[in-house]
Amino acid sequence: MTDFAYDYIQKFCIVGNSAVGKSSILVQLTDKRFLGAGSEPTIGVEFGSRLIDLDDGRKIKLQIWDTAGQESSRAVSRSYYRGAEGCLLVFDVLNRRSFLDLHIWLDDLKQWAEEEVVIILVGNKVDSEESREVTSEEGKDWARENGMEYVETSAKTGQGVEEAFERTAKKIHERLLQDREKMAAKRKKQQGSFPSLQLGAARKSAGGCC
Ligand code: GTP
Ligand code: MG
Repeated sequence: MTDFAYDYIQKFCIVGNSAVGKSSILVQLTDKRFLGAGSEPTIGVEFGSRLIDLDDGRKIKLQIWDTAGQESSRAVSRSYYRGAEGCLLVFDVLNRRSFLDLHIWLDDLKQWAEEEVVIILVGNKVDSEESREVTSEEGKDWARENGMEYVETSAKTGQGVEEAFERTAKKIHERLLQDREKMAAKRKKQQGSFPSLQLGAARKSAGGCC
């Protein structure tokens, strides 16, 4: 399959504290490997892309901007929120601080991202259960309270990584279809009212009078 064989593009960004595993998640999705020791803090922003299949047979190309969690790169990161239709908000289940800081990232997204952006909460590094500092329940509750879905991942084993992107892509696609239906219904309604306007115009010209 060539890289051109897709129906349309969805833009994503990945945000969250430094070292939660954002770049590792991206590389696991695009290259199916764990960055491991080769992983270094992202400076500025990195980019990756991947085709995914939806249930209706459509193929979507995901264009993903992996942002830097470090404070010094926040201004650069923000400029990539704009235009993103999907966003992975990532914390590290082995690091409570990264969970407590989620509200900072969400506030940032609310301020800088598109209003309709679909955000999914991602609890990463679930391969090391014994060192967990945040439970699944806490992750689920936070996601529910903030109106988003929750998924647990391991960029090391690959668990949940495709699911995180696919679930978000599916939601974006469903909304696109709903918007199209609404537009079509609106157009139909407008067309429905058109004949009476024409009739009015015809009467006017036939009568020859005001
Ligand atoms: P910044 O670019 O600084 O914002 O960090 P990041 O969020 O991109 O983190 P990165 O992917 O560089 O990973 C940080 C560290 O966590 C690295 O040592 C990774 O090997 C490790 N790591 C990432 N994901 C996982 C995971 O799922 N499991 C485990 N055990 N370690 C992980
Ligand atoms: Mg990174």
